[in-house]
Amino acid sequence: MSQTIASFNLHDGTTIPWLAWGCGSGQAQRDPVNSGTHVLNAGINHIDTAQIYNTEEATGQIVAASPLGKDKIYVTSKLGAPEDKPISLDSIRGAVAETTRKLGFIPDLFLIHNPFVAHPGELKAMWNTLEDLKVEGKLKSIGVSNFRVQDFEAIFDGARFKPVVNQIEFHPYVLSHLEPVLALQAKHGIVTEAFGPLTPVVRHGTGGPLKPILERIAARLTKSTGKDVDTATVLLLWTRAQGVVAVSASGNADRIRGLAEVAKLPDLLEQGEIDEITRVGKTVHFRHYTEHMEVDFPLPNLPSGL
Ligand SMILES: NC(=O)c1ccc[n+]([C@@H]2O[C@H](COP(=O)([O-])OP(=O)(O)OC[C@H]3O[C@@H](n4cnc5c(N)ncnc54)[C@H](OP(=O)(O)O)[C@@H]3O)[C@@H](O)[C@H]2O)c1
Repeated sequence: MSQTIASFNLHDGTTIPWLAWGCGSGQAQRDPVNSGTHVLNAGINHIDTAQIYNTEEATGQIVAASPLGKDKIYVTSKLGAPEDKPISLDSIRGAVAETTRKLGFIPDLFLIHNPFVAHPGELKAMWNTLEDLKVEGKLKSIGVSNFRVQDFEAIFDGARFKPVVNQIEFHPYVLSHLEPVLALQAKHGIVTEAFGPLTPVVRHGTGGPLKPILERIAARLTKSTGKDVDTATVLLLWTRAQGVVAVSASGNADRIRGLAEVAKLPDLLEQGEIDEITRVGKTVHFRHYTEHMEVDFPLPNLPSGL
């Protein structure tokens, strides 16, 4: 069994570990130093933070204290202000410098947290500023989050760099809604990063039509591997099989250890199982984080599966 965490290639020539621990939700955000230390000790090598999470300083601390060393740890942060207040163009450089100061290093990947971080009509100019900062060596890889088709269209014209990733809520129950976004990303080689990847298991009221399918696959894998494989693990393996980076979270030491084990698992799902999860997932629309991707982006006419 492989002991290293697989990575995906980004179109700017860098690589990104396929599983990240996010410190922007739950107990992971409330106690990032303690949880993040468990994360790095467990062998997870990708941390997802953001200006609005107030966890950049904690991320800097745990990376500095880790015996792994910064070179072996991939860190993402994001541009944004509390309560989704738009940021003026002339404050972007200061905000990026503040991220680098708090972390103690330039983040490996820096994202526009959502299109509403820019004042209306200024998204392209915001992206251009990130491009300038990349050219100046003040940023490394640059990408976006919660971008709909119209947001990509707003920044593509004349762009020097395309975003390397779009970090969005991604799991089987949003696949139908995301179809146009995913098609555009595939055309331009933009990798998807999934936040909320466990939503069908941890947030959907009944689990929906995927519940018995995930349980059946988890039971098969528990038998074939001799390990206790749960439905959350099956969803994460499905996410990896889509070529999508998973950004999960936990403040629970046992679950963090479990997440690190999942990160190193080989591809255990059969193609038929992957296809079944995709096909059944597409029959439902259920999103947990509705505040960005459901604005001015038509919803599919599908049941919620509740
Ligand atoms: N770009 C954006 O706009 C955006 C938006 C949202 C999130 N994010 C990023 O994505 C990260 C992850 O987001 P998420 O929390 O939605 O991810 P998630 O992986 O879908 O959910 C993680 C949550 O599920 C719980 N959990 C994990 N395994 C479980 C299990 N087997 N049974 C029951 N509960 C379980 C965890 O609780 P415990 O702590 O108790 O384990 C944690 O609170 C965030 O921290 C943030 O970094 C980005």
